[in-house]
Amino acid sequence: MDFLNFICPQTKQSLHKSDNTLIANEACYKIKGDIPRFVASDNYAKAFGLQWNTFKLTQFDSYTKSPVTEKRLEKAFGRPLSSLAGKCILEAGSGAGRFTEILLKYGAIVYSFDFSNAVEANYENNMPNENLTLFQADIENIPFQDDFFDAVLCLGVLQHTPSTKSSLRELSRVLKPKGELVCDHYKYHMGMFTSTYLIWWLMIKQFSSVRQLQITDWLTRFFFPIHWKFRENRFIQILLRRISPINFYYGRYDLPKNIHFEWSLLDTHDRNTDHYKRHVTRSKFENMLREIGYEEFSVFVGGTGYCCRAVKRDD
Ligand SMILES: C[S@@+](CC[C@H](N)C(=O)[O-])C[C@H]1O[C@@H](n2cnc3c(N)ncnc32)[C@H](O)[C@@H]1O
Repeated sequence: MDFLNFICPQTKQSLHKSDNTLIANEACYKIKGDIPRFVASDNYAKAFGLQWNTFKLTQFDSYTKSPVTEKRLEKAFGRPLSSLAGKCILEAGSGAGRFTEILLKYGAIVYSFDFSNAVEANYENNMPNENLTLFQADIENIPFQDDFFDAVLCLGVLQHTPSTKSSLRELSRVLKPKGELVCDHYKYHMGMFTSTYLIWWLMIKQFSSVRQLQITDWLTRFFFPIHWKFRENRFIQILLRRISPINFYYGRYDLPKNIHFEWSLLDTHDRNTDHYKRHVTRSKFENMLREIGYEEFSVFVGGTGYCCRAVKRDD
C-alpha cells in the first residue's frame, strides 16, 4: 500500500500517516481494515457495498474460468493489456475488483477506490499485492494531486454517480497530460420504454438495502428457471425480457448454468437497486467530453453502453 501520495480531498494538503490515521492540520482520515477511508460507508452507494460483499467473486475470471472480464477490459483499452505493465492506473468505482485483478495480472501499478465498502471485498480478493493501493473515496473528490496518473479507468460507474460531467472533470484532473481516460456509460435503448425495466427499478429502490437483496434474490429464483427452460427459444426470450426483472446472459456469455444463475442474482440486484441511473446519447456523451477539454477521443458501442477512450490535452 502506498500511503505517501494521498492528499486531503478538501484542502489538497499532503497527508501523513500516524498510527491508523492520515492527517493534515485539521483533517484526519481513518485507516480501517488497512484501507484509508475518505468517506463514510452510509451513503447513496451502500446497496452496491452490500452487493459486492455478497457476490465477492461472482464475476472474477479466476472464479468463472472464463475471460469475460479480461476481454471487456481489452476492448475498452483497444490494445493488448500487456501494454499496461508498469503504468500507474487509477481505477474508479472498482466494486469487488474484477478489473483490478486483471490490471494487476498485467503488471500495472493500481490505485483503486469505491464510494462504498465494496473496497473491503476488493481487499479480500486482491490483497496482498505490492502494486495495489486501495481506498474508499468519492469520484468527485479524489485524494490525489493534479496530473498524477498515466491512465484512468472507470467502467460501469458514471451512470451511478450524481453527475457524469462532474465525475469526468475530476477524473481528468488527476490524469497526466497525454494520459488516457477509459470509461463507459449506459446508453438509451428501446427496452427502456418497451419493457417493465424502469418500473421494477422504481419500485424496488424504495426498500432498505437488506430488503432489496431479499426481493431481488426471490425474483431471480422465480424467473431464472423460466428463462432457462426457454433459453433456446428466441421469441419467448424477447417476450420475457419485456416482463421479467432479471438479467439473463445465456447466449451472450459461454458459462455453466450455476455461474449463469449467480450472474443473474448479482445483476438483478445491480439493475434494480442503483440510486442514480442515467442514460446518454452518443452526441451528449461526446459533447460532455469536448466541454471538459478533450479533443482526441473515440466513443464506440461497448461496455455498459458507450465506451470511451480519450487522451488528455498536453497544454
Ligand atoms: C455497477 S458497479 C461497477 C463496479 C466495477 N467497476 C465492475 O464493473 O465490476 C458501480 C460502482 O460504482 C461505485 N460508485 C458509485 N458512485 C460512486 C462515487 N461517487 N465514487 C466512487 N465510486 C462510486 C459503486 O459503489 C459501485 O461499486
